[in-house]
Amino acid sequence: MKNIPVIMIIFGGSGDLAHRKLYPSLFNLYEQGLIHDNFAVIGTARRPWSHEYLREQVSDAIHETHDQVDENEVKAFASHFYYQSHDVTNVEHYVTLKKLAQELDDRYSAQGNCLFYMAMAPRFFGTIATHINDQHLTGSGFNRIVVEKPFGHDLVSAEQLNKEITASFDENDIFRIDHYLGKEMIQNIMPMRFTNPLIKNIWSGEYIKNIQITLAERLGVEARGGYYDTSGALRDMVQNHIFQIITLLAMPEPKDLSSDSVHQAKQELLKSLIIPTPEEVKKNFVRGQYLGSDTTFAYKKEPNVDPDSTTETYVAGKTKFTSGPIAGVPIYFRTGKEFKEKKTRIDIVLKHINNPYGQAHSNNITIEVDPESKIYITINGKKIDEPGIRREDLTYAFSKEEMAKVPDGYERLLHDVFVNDSTNFTHWSELKRYWEFIDAVEDAWQKENEAGNPEIAQYLPYRMGPKEADNIFESPTEHWIYE
Ligand code: BG6
Repeated sequence: MKNIPVIMIIFGGSGDLAHRKLYPSLFNLYEQGLIHDNFAVIGTARRPWSHEYLREQVSDAIHETHDQVDENEVKAFASHFYYQSHDVTNVEHYVTLKKLAQELDDRYSAQGNCLFYMAMAPRFFGTIATHINDQHLTGSGFNRIVVEKPFGHDLVSAEQLNKEITASFDENDIFRIDHYLGKEMIQNIMPMRFTNPLIKNIWSGEYIKNIQITLAERLGVEARGGYYDTSGALRDMVQNHIFQIITLLAMPEPKDLSSDSVHQAKQELLKSLIIPTPEEVKKNFVRGQYLGSDTTFAYKKEPNVDPDSTTETYVAGKTKFTSGPIAGVPIYFRTGKEFKEKKTRIDIVLKHINNPYGQAHSNNITIEVDPESKIYITINGKKIDEPGIRREDLTYAFSKEEMAKVPDGYERLLHDVFVNDSTNFTHWSELKRYWEFIDAVEDAWQKENEAGNPEIAQYLPYRMGPKEADNIFESPTEHWIYE
């Protein structure tokens, strides 16, 4: 779909996310003719920038992310950008912003369509939403809002934020963004599950022994210690990215591919998510913090981190559903900073079968999401020149040329917002359920902290995280496939 007229207001226009992701992604859409002449972007932030200065920043952002660009295109694109210095708590500033948005709406014939993007510190989301409502910033056409994560800090704060946003926006117009849902291999989960009889027919507790999800990162918390120490791995990665992956793996087949049907299937599944008791949290969850090395800080010594912090930089856990195609199948997940390597992968471990050869391996289906993108199934066959069984991978992969064409997650998701497709965004009822789960774990940990005996495993940097995570499996025949 081309040429959707819109005025986009980015709260956080001088920030890192806008610079690294939003401006380059918007440019890519512009170059492909997916947004065209009738659009303008207002970047807002506290700094006293000029329109011209923002345009230079936009141009820099494009040059930093593209090897080759047509300078005339960059110039033409940047000319659509305007800057408004804005203090999110100042009523007058919203009045000024509204005036500028209206002027641009006239100039660009944007037909009253408004897109608000919350790309700044999450503590301001509620304030901005309230002012959008009180100072009537919404236009006479469509009004959509994109909200970055984290959406709340727990269920109560998420409910409050949702209330503030729904005062001006319908659920259908709220795009809670999770960049994992824009990743190529995450978008491949549904087609892989539903188009292959080979896979679809074994997608049940009868054949699947367990599912394992690993979101490992090489980097530590870097400059984000202040934010991270109030969040931790569970809120930062499990509440959103890991739960979205789990949902795609466990949901029933949607009746069609419309956004409504996909969300309906997800919601049906999530009703049966088992919320852990404190005893289950103790048994099935491991939290950890990275130690220091000769060249790196221990987590507790990172800038802006409380030296007595109990915040986890690693978490491993287990979950299950009581309904859906894989009801009862244990789903293990882990995520952590300062792992051996950056690696996002999903392993579907199939059950063994009795066979006359004795020791054959199980078949596993692995989806590698980052840094590689591929799916492979381990297959057993005979050895060539000696008795016995050998194991090879059957791989579904992409060529370099194909990979070069894969759009960044943000580009995809921004495009979805323009064309009003919320399939790959988080619905409120899904988010609510994820928070119920996360709150149960956080509450159990909080009680342990208060009792003065929190079990926080310390792990060496750039290895595989705490060894305690090897003990969360239900049976001794289970272990992490990616080691
Ligand atoms: C973000 C988290 O949502 O995802 C970060 O806040 C994390 O802490 C990042 O580093 C990981 O994303 P990706 O795409 O690099 O796996």
